[in-house]
Amino acid sequence: RAGALVDRFGRVATDLRVSLTDRCNLRCSYCMPAEGLDWLPDERVLTDDEVVRLITVAVERLGIREVRFTGGEPLVRRGLVDIVRRTRALSPDLELSITTNGLGLARTAPALAEAGLDRVNVSLDSIRPETFAEITRRDRLKDVLAGLAAAADAGLGPVKINAVLLRGVNDDQAPELLAWAIDHSYELRFIEQMPLDAQHGWSRERMVTADEIFSRLAAEFTLAPAKEPRGSAPAELFTVDGGPATVGVIASVTRPFCGDCDRVRLTADGQVRDCLFARKESDLRQPLRDGAGDEELAERWIVAMAGKKAGHGIDDEGFLQPDRPMSAIGG
Ligand code: GTP
Ligand code: 5AD
Ligand code: SF4
Repeated sequence: RAGALVDRFGRVATDLRVSLTDRCNLRCSYCMPAEGLDWLPDERVLTDDEVVRLITVAVERLGIREVRFTGGEPLVRRGLVDIVRRTRALSPDLELSITTNGLGLARTAPALAEAGLDRVNVSLDSIRPETFAEITRRDRLKDVLAGLAAAADAGLGPVKINAVLLRGVNDDQAPELLAWAIDHSYELRFIEQMPLDAQHGWSRERMVTADEIFSRLAAEFTLAPAKEPRGSAPAELFTVDGGPATVGVIASVTRPFCGDCDRVRLTADGQVRDCLFARKESDLRQPLRDGAGDEELAERWIVAMAGKKAGHGIDDEGFLQPDRPMSAIGG
């Protein structure tokens, strides 16, 4: 297919994840240290116009059908609503979403919906204020809960929740989180922790596996594989107590789904990443600032994707974490 982002294994990227900032207003222990990180300097971060220009190339020339805005925390980016509006103007058929920690969502959800956003995924690892504060190092559970409710009210649904379980911290809270999510009609997904934290503290031994998550939930609920086809979605879905409620498990480590990957990432400083775990990036910012035309940018993007590896390689001998932490990739 001319103009598609195809790799040498024949996978076609149609889902673009755009990180709008590497900054965040929480400090989740599995993501970054308490003091934060060395943020990207402003001049390296793409302007709103530059972001929209690259998304336009991706949508009009490269077959991108879904755009998800990530961070850091995308809601701290001032131009977010405007970027959403201009992205929506490219096509009514684009699937447009954000992944957020929910802080400030209570205020911005109506504007985001009005600008053309379809839906939001919100990170929430516990509904106990103490555990939430222990994990995120901020006492902001109430703001997240208000953000979730506002997103649902604004029609940004189905609202999904992402939860990372940490051994000895919140792993015993999986069933209560699920009961609460079902009660509020949020679609909960549990995520296996990946080796992408800035502190390089991940260990396979401490990671709570999909099997463990499943057995913890199965102790209190009846789970059955959902009928709907999974496609390239990271989450395996299970119906809960006969449905219609579902729970998802994103088992990136123990049941990788790289063979079906349809994703490509753009960092806040204009680098194309062909994989979450890519060790090499391709710069679009400099060509863009040097005046490259849409065709040249599209060609560079195609070349950037061609070398995508078969999988993340976490199990390979000599596996190395990418230089960029999760917070600067966007998940
Ligand atoms: P939906 O389309 O709404 O289901 O979103 P999503 O689950 O694809 O995206 P989201 O941003 O909510 O991410 C949920 C979790 O999946 C995070 O931990 C991401 O890092 C992880 N994730 C997203 N895309 C990929 C991917 O391509 N590979 C891997 N290994 N993990 C991914
Ligand atoms: N492994 C898996 N998921 C992670 N997230 C953040 N760090 C990790 C990690 N190391 C989750 C966040 C958010 C999403 C973008 O990724 O909780 O929901
Ligand atoms: Fe795609 Fe890389 Fe994620 Fe595998 S780890 S699903 S190849 S982005």
